[in-house]
Amino acid sequence: MDAEAQKKAAGEAAAALVESGMVVGLGTGSTAAWFVKALAARGLDVTGVPTSQATADLAASLGLRLAELGEVRELDLTVDGADEIGPGLSLIKGGGAALLREKLVWEASRRCVVIAEAAKRVPILGRFPLPIEVVAFGHETTALRICDALAECDIGVAPRLRVRDGAPVRTDNGNLIYDAPCGRIEEPSALAAALKSVTGVVDHGLFLDLADQALVGVAEGVVTLEP
Ligand code: A5P
Repeated sequence: MDAEAQKKAAGEAAAALVESGMVVGLGTGSTAAWFVKALAARGLDVTGVPTSQATADLAASLGLRLAELGEVRELDLTVDGADEIGPGLSLIKGGGAALLREKLVWEASRRCVVIAEAAKRVPILGRFPLPIEVVAFGHETTALRICDALAECDIGVAPRLRVRDGAPVRTDNGNLIYDAPCGRIEEPSALAAALKSVTGVVDHGLFLDLADQALVGVAEGVVTLEP
């Protein structure tokens, strides 16, 4: 299977985990979109909590019933993609700029399943630039303090403001994204804490101790990974 077929297979395998009556977190990105399509095709009586406007639009177009996180408070299961899957199912997410809503939904879920193609597995996190969501006000100074936080963790790089079509990317929350090309993140927990301590940083794309299971598409099918 090629990468797209692997994503589709992982999405379909995750949709098979859903049962009628569940409240289900709907991730963001191309792999999560396969899950949403496969879930809608099953015709179950479920309520979906989307992690982005893009996913909300897709799910609504497929006839899925949707609710806001604040309405449901707790979810049975969330299924979402990732940019990297490292040791212990540590993850980098946020390539699609939805990391904050994703993390809020993941943290409210009893079970979280990450779906991806085989190429997302890495021996150590950091090859994919780490997305960091910051408030727009004074973001240039926040970026300087992010640099300091990275340096505290022996990561000597400068984060780059994410720009698309000549304009800074705005998240669904109206914030900006900086991407930090860390290379190797030797101590993800220490980096996560250092970034969260920077005023102006809303959240970052390190998802640690959150994934309960991974369904990874490989050449021959789908493999299940546990932390
Ligand atoms: C969205 O912000 C991300 O966290 C996505 O889940 C991640 O980028 C994976 O996207 P793909 O499935 O498109 O690779």
